Amino acid sequence: MPSINKCLFPVAGYGTRFLPATKAIPKEMLPIVSKPLIQYAVEEAMAAGIKGMAFVTGRGKRALEDHFDISYELEHQIAGSDTEYLLAETRHIIENCTFSYTRQIEMKGLGHAIEVGANLIGDEPFAVILADDYCVAEGDSVLTQMVKLFDKYQCSIVAIETVPKDETSRYGIIEGEEIAEAVFRVSNMVEKPVAEEAPSNLAIIGRYILTPDIFDIIRETPPGKNGELQITDALLTQAQQGKVIGYKFQGRRFDCGSVEAYIEAINYTYARQRG
Ligand code: UTP
Repeated sequence: MPSINKCLFPVAGYGTRFLPATKAIPKEMLPIVSKPLIQYAVEEAMAAGIKGMAFVTGRGKRALEDHFDISYELEHQIAGSDTEYLLAETRHIIENCTFSYTRQIEMKGLGHAIEVGANLIGDEPFAVILADDYCVAEGDSVLTQMVKLFDKYQCSIVAIETVPKDETSRYGIIEGEEIAEAVFRVSNMVEKPVAEEAPSNLAIIGRYILTPDIFDIIRETPPGKNGELQITDALLTQAQQGKVIGYKFQGRRFDCGSVEAYIEAINYTYARQRG
């Protein structure tokens, strides 16, 4: 039995930086070459042994549900043709995972989105993937690396990355002691600090493993930066109890919420596919 059985995908955001592309389709359906971001994210969760995929969606996100469903007409159309294999991976996912959905009615921040997903998760530790943070790794996927760490430390794990000082205001930033190579016991964390107020340049990226007590903590956490309920603020409560590990993952992350990194991700992936 794997230690983490469910992964939450908060996908309710508006994706305003990609308008007009994201007017009628979710940001997570944007493709890296020919596969949407959300499929890479689900495949990463599967690689970590997870089969329960839980989505916090919003208005205009129906394409995500359709993507992880059978399209009989289309399947019939391509059966026996030389494009049939292109849907094989998607079919494998659909056949081996379960999908559940709930809606975040108002976009009140990532912390709020995670709390909305509580009824899909229940009382067990779970993973969170932000699909617009597209991660590639040579060996174990980033989430697999984190699940291994969870098995050892049995507490919340956040993936971190060193960012330039002048970019700290875009991330949750941690402060902590390095207790093993690439592993930090987090003592403090601040959401989007300006460079002068940042406790370090170690930024949290879109991969988390959270223990279920986080739901009650979120409910007690007031809105923070930009009036949004920030997951970083809720995690601080756990960090103050010594229950958050920051992990400098092996691999590379592309912030596909920004157009520039999205194009980089496509070029990188296309070059690798061509060998
Ligand atoms: P972002 O800050 O990237 O926001 O959210 P966004 O709305 O998706 O994109 P821009 O800034 O308008 O271009 C980070 C992640 O948290 C989710 C988003 O879907 C994204 O995966 N999120 C954020 C929610 O699900 N609900 C929220 O209320 C806020």
